[in-house]
Amino acid sequence: MKAVEIKKGVYWVGAIDWGIRDFHGYTTLRGTTYNAYLIIDEETTLIDTVKAPFFQEMMERIRSVAEPGDIRNIVTNHVEMDHSGSLAKLVHVVPDARIYASRRAGEGIASYHGIEEITTVGTGDTLETLSFVEAPMLHWPDNMMAYCPEEKVLFSNDAFGQHLASAARFNDQVEEHALWEEAAKYYANILMPFGGLIEKKIGEVTDMGLDIEVICPSHGVVWRDGPSRIVQRYLDWAAGKDADKVLVVYDTMWQSTELLAREITEAVAERGVDVRLFKLRADDKSDIMREVLEAGTVIIGSPTLNNKMYPSVAEFLNYLTGLRPAGRRFAVFGSFGWGGGASREIIEVLEKAKLEVVKPPLDVKFRPGDDLREKVEEFVDMVLEGGR
Ligand code: FEO
Repeated sequence: MKAVEIKKGVYWVGAIDWGIRDFHGYTTLRGTTYNAYLIIDEETTLIDTVKAPFFQEMMERIRSVAEPGDIRNIVTNHVEMDHSGSLAKLVHVVPDARIYASRRAGEGIASYHGIEEITTVGTGDTLETLSFVEAPMLHWPDNMMAYCPEEKVLFSNDAFGQHLASAARFNDQVEEHALWEEAAKYYANILMPFGGLIEKKIGEVTDMGLDIEVICPSHGVVWRDGPSRIVQRYLDWAAGKDADKVLVVYDTMWQSTELLAREITEAVAERGVDVRLFKLRADDKSDIMREVLEAGTVIIGSPTLNNKMYPSVAEFLNYLTGLRPAGRRFAVFGSFGWGGGASREIIEVLEKAKLEVVKPPLDVKFRPGDDLREKVEEFVDMVLEGGR
């Protein structure tokens, strides 16, 4: 296994995880990569490592261009174990190398790896040809980026990544549709809660006047062809630009909620609005979140079970509210046999998460009757108009 030269003296020495299909609950149907980068300059510097089981793959790639013992500096841009996972093993190989990380990374590095001695750096600090930019919450509080002005490369860590395993290393070498689909899914499932911080950080980096020709994220391919496109896309996603689809997301017990879901979807489509229907337990929650990224309205349906929402709906809401899809409008529908309760509970969960809910919900006892269409028309008009 070999290193791949990204720019003069800058090498990709990461690992390809072709087989991963579940990345802490996020489905990764195209696998992923853990990107580490080696800079061979007056001193040899490694930026990030790889997930622990891939340590030997990283070392083999390093050995193809350098003696591992020559590594003097290890930059840990992020302490999450998909990037720092090989740190302790690496330190056994290069015990004299200095570890550079943000102030907030120290506790995690000590706890995960038993390493107490690190050199903390922050925005504006430099190391050899690198300068650092703190990037808290992109994706954890400890995150930072490194910039190499000589080669105009930004090592962005989690930002601008994609869970996309590929033998190719650059964005112009992979299929465009798959690339953007995975970039969007990644943003929706990893970075969506931090949209405001992303806008601010991109503004800060722009104000710093960094000349960026290549963006090297810690997952997926390197952006060398038009890297400004992914930066602009992040700004658009953070601003909720073009988020105009309607999603209908539901589960069903005896098909009453399903009847409502299908009828609502039809009624939305008849109004000329782009609408998608997702059935929980059939569709994956991380794929649904990718659609939420480009949705302005999300209509959630659940039958009542034991006076509560259906378990699959509860699981989805738990995931969705954690990702804080602000700026969207939500509405609720469902069916019940005895006293109901699902719609009320869903509204409570959404409002507790400070999400906008259009009310009242559309509730049907037992089975939708002959007035189904009439009720649905009224409900859909209310939802699309933003409530009564
Ligand atoms: Fe790819 Fe937050 O780790």
